[in-house]
Amino acid sequence: MSPAVRRKKRKDEIKVSVAPLHNMADYKACEDIQREVWHSQDLDIFPAQMLLVASRTGGILLGAYNSLGDLIGFAFSILGVLNGEPIQHSCMLAVRAAYRNFDVGFKLKLAQRKEALKRKITAVTSSFDPVLPMNAYFTLGKLGARATAYEENFCGETTSSSDRGLPTDRLMTYWDLDSNSVIGRLDAGPQRHDFRKELKQYTIINHLDEVAPGMANSSAVKLNCTEDQFLFEVPYNLPEIKSRDLGMALEWQGKLRQAFRHYFKKDYVATDFWVMEQDGRLRAFYFLEKNK
Ligand SMILES: CC(C)(COP(=O)(O)OP(=O)(O)OC[C@H]1O[C@@H](n2cnc3c(N)ncnc32)[C@H](O)[C@@H]1OP(=O)(O)O)[C@@H](O)C(=O)NCCC(=O)NCCS
Repeated sequence: MSPAVRRKKRKDEIKVSVAPLHNMADYKACEDIQREVWHSQDLDIFPAQMLLVASRTGGILLGAYNSLGDLIGFAFSILGVLNGEPIQHSCMLAVRAAYRNFDVGFKLKLAQRKEALKRKITAVTSSFDPVLPMNAYFTLGKLGARATAYEENFCGETTSSSDRGLPTDRLMTYWDLDSNSVIGRLDAGPQRHDFRKELKQYTIINHLDEVAPGMANSSAVKLNCTEDQFLFEVPYNLPEIKSRDLGMALEWQGKLRQAFRHYFKKDYVATDFWVMEQDGRLRAFYFLEKNK
């Protein structure tokens, strides 16, 4: 059985339904899931009452339930306005660790998209930490959202375990729900690549220098690229680097800041995130292109 078929089979084994929260106990369960996923102190938790009010006043709160009816994840967005148009801003997407990589997060986002479109809202904005390849792949690669801006220390200091140690830099994303590119990405899944060919086709604006096993720095970033499309490589194990050597993670954050701020100013956007296997190791790339 091929890895793709095996993965699909695993996903089919999990029965998940997505629906608005059933009762107050589910709102409380959202608090527990936040504690489990982000290990935050209570000051950084969206309380049940706030979730309830926001979901009754234009926000969208959807839960993922397992076959026993337990809440295993949720997606939460609030109503906002961008350039005079109503949008949903996605504040949280969380899936309990035991249920990850079974498409639960994807199903929650599909349901959020459907609900937003039903309300005639055609965009969901959100943000993610660019040092987390998993979030980059999920948001850009799987959902087909685009990153259009880079915010330094966006959330200030938080108590979330994933923010610990570094300023809370974020890539700001725009998910154009009804665009052909998003519909195509959701229908066909993340783009399949012939990486051997494609890596030769595109400029890579940096390269990795392995200084110890599993520990790679970035070379200087090329800032004079004028190609319409190019790649920026990051270590697939960046979160592990962060936990082993905060100084090296800080240097990576500096390179990400430099590359994104520079090229966003030149009207590029990040439209994809590639993960490829080469010679037994995983490589990861942000894909940037001129805004069309
Ligand atoms: C982000 C999150 C909600 C995703 O939920 P999920 O149910 O695991 O999502 P899915 O199964 O739909 O998709 C996960 C994808 O990431 C891939 N993935 C897993 N680990 C990865 C990694 N280290 N790097 C890149 N991709 C990775 C999986 O293979 C899967 O892709 P595939 O379906 O093409 O194989 C979940 O991981 C989570 O709760 N994370 C912590 C909270 C968080 O960071 N939220 C913000 C999200 S932007």
